[in-house]
Amino acid sequence: MAGRSVVVGVGHYLPERIVPNSEFEKTLDTSDEWIRTRSGIERRHFAADDETTSDLATKAAEAALVDAGLTADDIDAIILATSTADLTFPSAATMVQARLGMTKGFAFDVQAVCAGFVFALGNANALILSGQAKRVLVIGAETFSRIMDWTDRSTCVLFGDGAGALVLEKQEGRGTSDDRGILATDLNSDGRYKDLLYVDGGVSTQSTGHLRMQGNQVFRHAVEKLTKTAEIALERAGLTCDDVDWIVPHQANIRIIQGTAKKMGLPMENVVVTVQDHGNTSAASIPLALSVGKQRGQIKPGDLIVTEAIGGGLAWGAVALRW
Ligand code: ACO
Repeated sequence: MAGRSVVVGVGHYLPERIVPNSEFEKTLDTSDEWIRTRSGIERRHFAADDETTSDLATKAAEAALVDAGLTADDIDAIILATSTADLTFPSAATMVQARLGMTKGFAFDVQAVCAGFVFALGNANALILSGQAKRVLVIGAETFSRIMDWTDRSTCVLFGDGAGALVLEKQEGRGTSDDRGILATDLNSDGRYKDLLYVDGGVSTQSTGHLRMQGNQVFRHAVEKLTKTAEIALERAGLTCDDVDWIVPHQANIRIIQGTAKKMGLPMENVVVTVQDHGNTSAASIPLALSVGKQRGQIKPGDLIVTEAIGGGLAWGAVALRW
């Protein structure tokens, strides 16, 4: 017998406002065609002016709890992956905790940019396996529209806002790769790559700042590091790429998604793709894709999933899990 962190609920929330690529043609030297062919993105959602990351996160969390048939009273911990929290402090996670009416347990944010949800899953799994929590709400939520430089065509057309959430519950498994739940994780970062992707402001530098990215340099790292981390997570679970039913990748760019699947030897029929509708929602993209993938009828109980993500840091990682 072995404890496993099993997904018992999933949900998401996207802000109402949908912005097609053509919107950017009005203010920037860009085109729908360039954005589609270079990134795969067709549209994205942007939060309303009065809508914050914790608003999006709360709605996704509520949907995941309904899906799980649970209430906030059943949850021991909330981990919220975000780089765009409402306030410097308290954490957006504690704001969600209050909004859900949860008065016990604990809540905190994890910041690993686009890899944030994978890092949050790894932390939630560790809390569950070490006996510190039985049920953990794991959320990815972002309002990257707040840190865009709207004059920089090489970044502002790529990102979107949204939130997704999972409920993880401790269940007993047999300790084999047939078990449902998280089977293995692999987390990495290398701070030497800071200048490839960062926000040029923050509390300690006394400004909010805007996202800056050397996109083609990030691209160069992405396929290789994502393939490797996915393979390591699978190997730790005693599995290979051949066992995978679904790659649920971070949704940054369709060419990175295609390149990684190809390197893993899997066809695009085995990949959940949402980048065309959401753009890059950073830490929200994987739980959004899991939720949409379930809604579409792609992801089914028992399916072997590998999630992988890379982002600012650089930080990257993967989780192998059976749905
Ligand atoms: N419209 C038209 N032309 C553009 C645009 C645009 N929106 N943006 C850039 N260009 C131009 C550039 O100026 C450049 O022109 P030049 O050749 O005259 O200098 C040309 O297009 C090519 O630019 P590249 O950056 O080389 O284009 P590339 O094919 O690499 O695509 C992109 C750019 C989409 C950003 C890609 O590199 C990418 O997706 N990179 C990875 C991003 C990523 O994965 N981020 C992950 C994490 S995000 C996070 O952690 C927050």
